[in-house]
Amino acid sequence: MSKPVLLVTRKLPPAVQARAARDYRAILNTDDVPTTPASILAAAEGADAIVCCSADRLDATVIAALPASVRVIGTFSVGTDHIDLPAAAARGIAVCNTPDVLSEATAELTMLLILAAARRAGEGERMVRAGGWTGWSPTQLLGTQVSGKRLGIFGMGRIGQCLARMARGFRMQVHYRNRGRLSPDLEDGAFYHEDDASFLAVCDVLSLNAPGGAGTASWLNAERIEMLPQGAIVANAARGTLVDDAALIAALKSGRIAYAGLDVFRGEPALDPGYLGLENVVLLPHLGSATTETRDAMGHLALDGVDAVLAGRAPPNLVR
Ligand code: DGY
Repeated sequence: MSKPVLLVTRKLPPAVQARAARDYRAILNTDDVPTTPASILAAAEGADAIVCCSADRLDATVIAALPASVRVIGTFSVGTDHIDLPAAAARGIAVCNTPDVLSEATAELTMLLILAAARRAGEGERMVRAGGWTGWSPTQLLGTQVSGKRLGIFGMGRIGQCLARMARGFRMQVHYRNRGRLSPDLEDGAFYHEDDASFLAVCDVLSLNAPGGAGTASWLNAERIEMLPQGAIVANAARGTLVDDAALIAALKSGRIAYAGLDVFRGEPALDPGYLGLENVVLLPHLGSATTETRDAMGHLALDGVDAVLAGRAPPNLVR
C-alpha cells in the first residue's frame, strides 16, 4: 500500500522531518520559504494531511479550497487562531495541535521577558554593543526588582500555571484572571479575580498568556491600562492581537507603564514601528517555544495526531 501524502508547510527539526519522510510521501519545504494561501493550496494538491505552523494562514477561504483528500491538519503550535476551526469542521477536517509540550519553554520565555524588561537588559545590551559603556556607576540603568512583587496572569492555562510555578521561585504573589476559577490544587495559592478592575489593580507585573482570537482581541487597551498600578510592567508571550498597540506605546511613552517585554506582535513579523524607538520595551521574535527539546516534541506530537487520524484512531491532541 502506498504511503499517504503529507504536506509539511515549513522546515521542521531534522528528527521530525526524518519521521515525516519515513512514514509519508512527504512534501517538505526544505528552504523554509514562508507560505502564502496560494502556495499552501498549490502544495496541498493530493495531500491526505497537512502539518502547518502558526505563521501559515488557513482561513475559511483556504480551508474551503483545500483538496477533498485532506483529512487532518496538525498544527505545529498550541495556538489555533491561524486556522478557521468552524470551516475545518464543516469540511470534516480534523485539527490537532501541540499542547503541554511547550508550556515550560513558553513560561521560561515569559519569565525572561519580565526580567529583561524589569532589569533593563535590552538597554544594557544595546549600550555595551554600541561601545557606550563607560564603566560601573551607582545610578546606571536602575530597574525594578520583581522578587516579592505581585504578578497578574491573564490566561491561567497550562502556560500560565507553569509561569506561576516559576514566579513563586521569585516569591511573587500570583493573581489570575481566567475563563473560570481553577481547582484549589491547580490554583496552588494564586488569587482568582472575577473582574478586570480588581485583577488589574494588583498587577505590578501583568503577563498575557491567553489564546488569541476574537474573544481576546485588543484586551489590553487604554481603558484597562488605566486600571494598572502606575509604573506596571507588561509581558506578552501569547499573541500580539491581545494588545492595542497604540495604547501600549502611549503608556510606555508617558511612563504609565514603566517597561514591557513583547515576544509576539499583531501582523508579525511586521510590528508597530512605534515600539522601535522606545528604550523601555524588550522586543523578541516570537521565541516562546524555541528550544530544541520543545520544537522536537511539538513536531512529534503534531505527527502523532496526523498518524492517529489517518489510522482511524482518536488523536490525543484533537482540537476539534
Ligand atoms: C504556539 O505554539 O502557538 C506558539 O506561539 C508557536 O506558534
